[in-house]
Amino acid sequence: MTDKSSNKAGAGQAMWGGRFSASPNALMQAINVSIGFDRRLAAQDIAGSQAHAAMLAKTGVISSEDEAEIQRGLSAIAGEMAAGTFPFRDEFEDIHMNVEARLRELIGPVAGRLHTARSRNDQVALDFRLWVREACDRSAAQLEGLQQALIGKAAAHTDTLMPGFTHLQPAQPVTFGHHLMAYVEMFSRDASRFRDARARMNECPLGAAALAGSPFPIDRAMTAKALGFDRPTANSLDSVSARDFALEALSAASICATHLSRLAEELVLWMTPQFGFIRLSDAFTTGSSIMPQKKNPDAAELIRAKVGRILGSLTSLTVVMKGLPLAYSTDMQEDKVPTFEAFDALELSLLAMTGLIADLEPNTERMAAAAGAGFSTATDLADWLVRELDLPFRDAHHVTGAAVKRAEQLGVDLDDLPLAELQALNQGICEDVFKVLTPAASSASRVSYGGTAPDQVRSQIKRWKDTLR
Ligand code: ARG
Repeated sequence: MTDKSSNKAGAGQAMWGGRFSASPNALMQAINVSIGFDRRLAAQDIAGSQAHAAMLAKTGVISSEDEAEIQRGLSAIAGEMAAGTFPFRDEFEDIHMNVEARLRELIGPVAGRLHTARSRNDQVALDFRLWVREACDRSAAQLEGLQQALIGKAAAHTDTLMPGFTHLQPAQPVTFGHHLMAYVEMFSRDASRFRDARARMNECPLGAAALAGSPFPIDRAMTAKALGFDRPTANSLDSVSARDFALEALSAASICATHLSRLAEELVLWMTPQFGFIRLSDAFTTGSSIMPQKKNPDAAELIRAKVGRILGSLTSLTVVMKGLPLAYSTDMQEDKVPTFEAFDALELSLLAMTGLIADLEPNTERMAAAAGAGFSTATDLADWLVRELDLPFRDAHHVTGAAVKRAEQLGVDLDDLPLAELQALNQGICEDVFKVLTPAASSASRVSYGGTAPDQVRSQIKRWKDTLR
């Protein structure tokens, strides 16, 4: 498979071909080439080169005339990228060499000065870090959009009753607004994990060169500042070999995806006729090709599944990095595909979930009816016995258990149990007790900070609106 005819000029056209006398085997090229995926780093690669060229001129490593030529060429390349006319070529292996080769075509041999005091090792570390930093920023912004959608829906349903579950069994009545606001808390922690990851990764590896630093009088603080970093990285070996910034971003993405998956699962459940808690419009559902009655929550199902891909990406890159000696190894080229894939999946999920939340309409009667089912106010009866009759909670729990058993025998809800039946269990029980046995009273009574009482939920909504404004 080796193309012998291209051997004459050293190793074909490869930029690193000086010491080589034969072209790489076609399989070598096939396994080595990364332009198919690292072309997504084009904008970051050009930004890095622009900052690097400016710094080389400022420090006198290259002349300002040469810098001007290089900047002109880089701008032209950026224009080609934007116009979609840039020629991405496999023979130049990766994005870094594609850009440099094109620069040489546009401005001639002076292009060769750009790579002074730089290596592809610090170049790719920079490009990838910039890409991951932007992905973290995008995810945090999209999470905020999702929070806004949840808050909007919650604000409309602070008094809408629904069952609260533990073990997916009816536990105590809550409100739909309260339930949605639980996810606002989760997604806010997800956003803050992305912000934390960003703060930690915000050091610039450019100038570490191949691994040991550079003998040229480069100004690493200057390039760091130009590229929006807080400071340059402090160890050149670490600079080119660290990928924990990506692992951390993927961890944040994975946790976020598990939260999305939980919410998606609830939407799927609530959509079933058995629950019947919500309706989704035709915009976020599909039909079946065989069963005409079907309306399937596909978007929610796919969001529920995406965590597989995202957590898979974290696993994939963790295993790539495990056991790698310092500093750079080409293993690290395998960092990009899983990271791109994970963030593509996450961002699509966040946007789709935002659409789903805005789209859904709760069936409030159905939810309210379910809120009272399953003796969900039993705890309220026990609490009443503690408060009004001064029973120890354990005894109150026992009396209430007997009341539930009796109601079950009679086939009625707790608040339909005749007073005499309750009094047979404890003489002190009076008519007053029925006031606490409705789902609305139960929910309204839970006024502790963070509880489900509509006033509490309203004040949390206000707090979040102020915070996100
Ligand atoms: N394409 C490489 C990567 O993605 C760039 C760095 C290559 N450096 C090298 N010495 N092979 O990691």
